[in-house]
Amino acid sequence: PYSFYEEIRSIHPVYKGNFFKYPGWYVTGYSEALTILKDNRFQTRIPLPEATKKYEALKNIQNNMMLFKNPPDHARLRMLVSNHFTPIRIQKYRPFIEKIAKNLLEEIKNHKKIDIISDFAFPFASLVIAKIIGIPDDDKNIFREWALSLIQSIDVTRSRRSIVAGNKTTLEMLSFFKDLIQKRIQSPQDDLISELLHQEKDRKLTEEELLSASVLLVIAGHETTVNLISNSLYCLLTNPKEYDKLIENPSLIASAIEECLRYESPTQMIARVASEDVELNKVQIKKGDHVYVLIGAANRDSKQFSNADVFDITRNPNPHLTFGSGIHFCLGSALARLEAQIAIKTLLQNVVNIHLETKDVEWRKLVSFRAMKEMHVHFDD
Ligand code: HEM
Repeated sequence: PYSFYEEIRSIHPVYKGNFFKYPGWYVTGYSEALTILKDNRFQTRIPLPEATKKYEALKNIQNNMMLFKNPPDHARLRMLVSNHFTPIRIQKYRPFIEKIAKNLLEEIKNHKKIDIISDFAFPFASLVIAKIIGIPDDDKNIFREWALSLIQSIDVTRSRRSIVAGNKTTLEMLSFFKDLIQKRIQSPQDDLISELLHQEKDRKLTEEELLSASVLLVIAGHETTVNLISNSLYCLLTNPKEYDKLIENPSLIASAIEECLRYESPTQMIARVASEDVELNKVQIKKGDHVYVLIGAANRDSKQFSNADVFDITRNPNPHLTFGSGIHFCLGSALARLEAQIAIKTLLQNVVNIHLETKDVEWRKLVSFRAMKEMHVHFDD
């Protein structure tokens, strides 16, 4: 997508267009993207056409998600969940995340050829989020279908059929989580669902909100992390000098992951709607206009980043917009960072001479996300 971003940015960083049948303002400039994300006059909306009976469940579940709420409702929903995702809290998860990565590598390192996505990144991210939320291990395999189906129904390339399929997935997820909530009401465990259920009365999510939060955490916290891990490895393997730098100096891992986040952002687009007329960089955005913030483009804006198209794991500062900005700034950013750092570090420490089968990987046909279909790698004994 990067040459397309560059092309429209050279015309105007806030470009009026009609791509994928969605007329609106396509924002590729870094400073304009940041301004919009921080300005609550640009509001989030449920990304569904007018409701019909066919996808009522999907609409209802999205209706209670913080991601689609604006002030003042947003703050309450976010506040009730946010304690569980602070950097300090997340650091406590480190030992079990490291263990999950190690165990998975034990299983795959004798295989010599694997698909990083289905054999490593996917089970890794599933096991981590399942353990945090409180989903039993036996059920983790249903994650992928759920996540893929819901992402397909949210992406701007979605068809009516994918929305209806997303609705079916929602119904399955709802019945799964309703069941789990009942179990945790009866016998609480050391997990997020139990904690959210047992908060004080006036600081509590309703059952509908808890169901929505569970579904949101599975989608928001899973597919994007899988793609961060695979995209990061792809960046490193296609930039051997940077890869060698990291092998020589493993303490660069945090800064390397920041650069992977910037360079191949798993999220490429954030959609907003203007709630009033706004003038921005000499263009007049009218009330009701749709605004598409292309964060993958903002991350490569040479006005903000020197040598923006160069992958440099020592880049500092690196204020990429991959986790968004403003009130909806990604709640799971500390977890996503930690997961990616551990996954890549454990992988590079445990396999010898890892290389890509082909650089010509196939990217999924999504606009809001950057995700490979498969990523085959080989390694030696
Ligand atoms: C919001 C990206 C991982 C939970 C967001 C937003 C972005 C984003 C761009 C803002 C959307 C908007 O403004 O409309 C990512 C990326 C991830 C990742 C790139 C991984 C590489 C996670 C994880 C979790 C999570 C691991 C939780 C377990 C959330 C939630 C929100 C959110 C709950 C909504 C926050 C709000 O509306 O206030 N994420 N995310 N994300 N993310 Fe993430």
